[in-house]
Formats: sequence, C-alpha cells, structure tokens
Amino acid sequence: PYVAVLNGPNLNLLGQRQPEVYGRDTLADVEDLCAATAGAAGFEVRCVQSNHEGALLDAVHEMRTEAAGFVVNAGALTHTSVALRDALVTITGPLIEVHISNVHAREAFRHHSYLSDIAAGVIVGCGIEGYCFAVERVLTLTGGRGA
Ligand code: DQA
Repeated sequence: PYVAVLNGPNLNLLGQRQPEVYGRDTLADVEDLCAATAGAAGFEVRCVQSNHEGALLDAVHEMRTEAAGFVVNAGALTHTSVALRDALVTITGPLIEVHISNVHAREAFRHHSYLSDIAAGVIVGCGIEGYCFAVERVLTLTGGRGA
C-alpha cells in the first residue's frame, strides 16, 4: 500500500522560493520526510510534483483507487482549480490538504480553497512538518498506523 503525495505548481522551487515564507528545505527533503513517516508504518509513498494542472489530474486518475489516501499541496491551484477538485472527489481514500505557510494570515485570495470542504483534514502553517502530520493522518484514517 502507498500514500500518494502530490505537490502543485512552484513547489519544485522549495528552498529557493521565498524562503522567508516557505523555509529552506527542498522538495526532496519533503518527499524524504513523507517516505520516512510512511515507511515507519510499512507504507510506501508515491510522490508527484508538477507545474501543469493536467499532469496532476492524470496523476490523480492513475492513483485514485489504488492509493490508501492522498496528501495534496496544490499550491496556487488550491485557489483556482475546479478541475483538480473534481478529480480529487473521485479518490477512494481520504484527502489531507497541506499548506506550508499559514494561508489565512496571507492575501485574501489565499483564504479560499477549492479542496478544503472535500478534504478529511487540512493542515496549514506548520511548515514542511505538516506533510508528516498529513501522512500520519492518512495512516490513522485508513487503519495503516499500528496495523
Ligand atoms: C501554498 C500556499 C499557496 O497559496 C501558494 O500558492 C503555494 C504554496 C503553501 O504551501 O503554503 O504555492 O500551498
């Protein structure tokens, strides 16, 4: 079993992009962290990052019934993409939405998410540690932790 970890636009630039907002850790660090968290419970992760909405949709379609659950930081698509929402509605496992920064303390356009109301949980403003919480939550909800 595996946990799907999806990262959207510009998250490939983690570590270089606005480090005062997003920190100095890289996407590779995030993916390693997710793998270690899932690995401790005997789960794998499948990580996908894309700057292209359609590529993210394709990834959801591929994994939607197979993944134990999804951890998704959709980046700016969070605030714009009905298509990504429509794809994520079809997954069989739980969705946990993650944002590294506290979007509620930022611009008004970041306060609305097309994903939050279809998510089993939302983690914001916890830095990259939020991804660990999210992976752990997927494992808890799917009975994977401690199983
Ligand atoms: C983000 C917040 C979004 O508003 C922004 O567009 C991102 C990153 C976060 O992780 O804090 O790209 O999802």
